[in-house]
Amino acid sequence: MKLLIVGTGYVGTTTGLVFAEMGHQVTGLDVDTQKIQSLQAGNLHFYEPGLDELLRKHVKNETITFTDNIKKAIEMNDVIFICVGTPKEENGSADLSYVKNVAQDIGRYMNRSKVIVTKSTVPVGTAELVTEWIKTSQLQSVPFAVVSNPEFLREGSALADALKPDRIVIGSTSDTARRIMRELYDNFQCPIIETNPKASEMIKYAANSFLALKISFINELARLCDKLEININDVAQGMGLDHRIGPHFFRAGLGYGGSCFPKDVNALLHTAEATGSPLTILESVVQVNTEQPLYLLNKLKQALGGNLQEKTIAVLGLAFKANTDDTRESASIKIIEALINEQANVKVHDPVVKWSGSSAGCHQFKTVADTVSGTDAVMICTDWDEYRELDWSKLKPLVKQPYLFDGRNMVDKEHVAKMGFYYTGVANH
Ligand code: UGA
Repeated sequence: MKLLIVGTGYVGTTTGLVFAEMGHQVTGLDVDTQKIQSLQAGNLHFYEPGLDELLRKHVKNETITFTDNIKKAIEMNDVIFICVGTPKEENGSADLSYVKNVAQDIGRYMNRSKVIVTKSTVPVGTAELVTEWIKTSQLQSVPFAVVSNPEFLREGSALADALKPDRIVIGSTSDTARRIMRELYDNFQCPIIETNPKASEMIKYAANSFLALKISFINELARLCDKLEININDVAQGMGLDHRIGPHFFRAGLGYGGSCFPKDVNALLHTAEATGSPLTILESVVQVNTEQPLYLLNKLKQALGGNLQEKTIAVLGLAFKANTDDTRESASIKIIEALINEQANVKVHDPVVKWSGSSAGCHQFKTVADTVSGTDAVMICTDWDEYRELDWSKLKPLVKQPYLFDGRNMVDKEHVAKMGFYYTGVANH
């Protein structure tokens, strides 16, 4: 099938490449000419394991091409995926202006019947809005169908997730559009849920919110377990083995970050409020998550005598999680900002991300050894494998004070204790 992907960001590029891999002919469209040129040259503009290889392969085979010619791209393709961003508005709702622009372009340049698919995470009711926006910008009346088909891939494992999803959700009221979508996903071995667009849109927000809820639940429970000196990892494992609960998204730590959970939970809360049907549990999820990065930082502060002025702290990890260069809503950044506010000197390290802050109190170092050297405490903020494999016996002689705060419960606490570190995790007793 010939497909057009509008928006060559994270979701759009991955989706396009996965469809190319499945044998479809894909065009990627973006208003950002620089991005288009870079992708057409086989260079990915973000870090994602495995994706650059796939990009080079399909650019070379010409199974994917990139363009900024909106009119031509719309005219030549009959299935159009909208994958543009939906950033957060000040009030927490999703900003649909990019989606609206695309819908209006589609209406304007629609030369024959098309299926328009929203893959971006969009609030309930957006498929109806997209239909309206297309209709009102059409120059001639051409039939079309709008389908909601949310994406569930994670950054850092985008390719594996997109190639082998747990499920595919298709929200449409048109039989023809559903048939086309089923055909498109023919090679995927997973259940397909067919429903109406509103339910499909809700599934995406509800799934992300429920996962965020699991994380906030385990983080708040971790605080109680901490006081009772109970190991939260054992509790999570014991709970997770109950099939009704499940083991995933149950790792206590510094709270959830990234561009999706924080934004989507807020957007769903906004929808709930606007509808007059509040989601009070979800409000608590946000509250726990806001507090969580500072939970471990307060312990660090106490350990160092209640004052961080003139203290030097090593922060390991800037990305919001391992295997990504994304720092949006990263707990690490929140911790660094709090440390700078407390007038501490901060030394940071990340295997992929470059620190872009301008504070004179924060500097980045190339190696973990240089980062921890001369510091009063080390705090692990991102779960990079590199930090799991550190030789703490070599780092111990470098630090000024051997305090180790493990925001990801990823270090062998007995081992580092033997090296002479005072270890504190998140209820990692
Ligand atoms: C999330 C969802 O997992 C995807 O299914 C969804 O498609 C995506 O949002 C989206 O809406 O686009 P992502 O934001 O890439 O994916 O990251 P996750 O792997 O879900 O992690 C989110 C945050 O939760 C990270 O900060 C991570 O460190 C944290 N986390 C995750 C925990 O603190 N504990 C856990 O047990 C799991």
